[in-house]
Amino acid sequence: MVKADGYGLGMEDVVRTLESEDPWGFGVATVEEGLRLRGAGVTIPVIIFNPVPPGSYDSAVAHDLTLTVSDLDSVERVAAAATRTGQVGRFQVEIDTGMGRSGFDWRRVAEWGPGLVDRTSSTSIWEGCYTHFHSADLVDDAPTRTQWENFNAALERLEPEKGSLIHACNAAAAMRYPTFAADAVRPGIFLYGGSIGEGVAPPEEVVRVRARVTLIRDVPQSTTLGYGATYRSSGNERWATLGIGYGDGFPRVLGNRGSALLAGQRLPIIGRISMDMTVVDITGAGGVQVGDVATLIGRDGDGVIPLDEIADLAGTISYEILTGFTARMPRIWMTE
Ligand SMILES: Cc1ncc(COP(=O)(O)O)c(C=O)c1O
Repeated sequence: MVKADGYGLGMEDVVRTLESEDPWGFGVATVEEGLRLRGAGVTIPVIIFNPVPPGSYDSAVAHDLTLTVSDLDSVERVAAAATRTGQVGRFQVEIDTGMGRSGFDWRRVAEWGPGLVDRTSSTSIWEGCYTHFHSADLVDDAPTRTQWENFNAALERLEPEKGSLIHACNAAAAMRYPTFAADAVRPGIFLYGGSIGEGVAPPEEVVRVRARVTLIRDVPQSTTLGYGATYRSSGNERWATLGIGYGDGFPRVLGNRGSALLAGQRLPIIGRISMDMTVVDITGAGGVQVGDVATLIGRDGDGVIPLDEIADLAGTISYEILTGFTARMPRIWMTE
């Protein structure tokens, strides 16, 4: 899965990196993302995993992107787009087993199954079926097992043609339920360094978020800091201003809560985070100079601020932290 700009890391670079693993295809959320992949020279299958607006079908079919369908109208749209563009339309059928946001209802195969078969042709090809687990990251395995059973019950009634691609697992399911792997898995977050729940070792660190010290100030007691003056120096203090803020996607909620690795130490972020600046208390931390690099997420020497720790502290999930980084943040790729 490389949607949302490769989980915020930069889709084209992510794809270049993943290509060495020889994936069957790539998963995206929108036709525009699919077009970006085609524009970047991707020739392997690209599946658009979200329902898309009716006006986008022609463009998807014209660029050989596989659509996913959740109702019979969408199946018809694929066929109509194939006729209009003179290209083969490809679609996969999402079966909703509890996620609820999209997909045909697994309980009602008898209602939609026959219509699906009727609307499939040599120019509008039904290529596979899938479902999506809602709780594969939880220790309680009951919901995932139930979804898997219901998916299989639907498939039994549907009888997709041999060779149809059957898939269900996101990263958490791929790691926790290898027997549900079927024909393909759709890992996302684990590839990008996000944990997939208790009991599974966290992935290798992938992302580091860093910013330079742009100013150092020595301040006397009672100096206020930031919007709302939520921090006030309790004595003589030394503050380092970093060139990063919420305008870069560094969560504002980490003001007075987060920390930064600097000069081999973990130092507190003080005051509210501004759009473009974050201030760290470096009082007593020797050796910090303007131009030094602070690490806000990831490893620096022996120190580490895990991505998931930041997500917890910000009251969210690693996905939102990663996809929240804005275009202003340069993405620098390093091999180790
Ligand atoms: C249909 C589908 N499959 C797979 C994934 C990948 O999920 P994850 O990043 O949890 O591995 C997603 C992401 O939400 C998805 O929507």
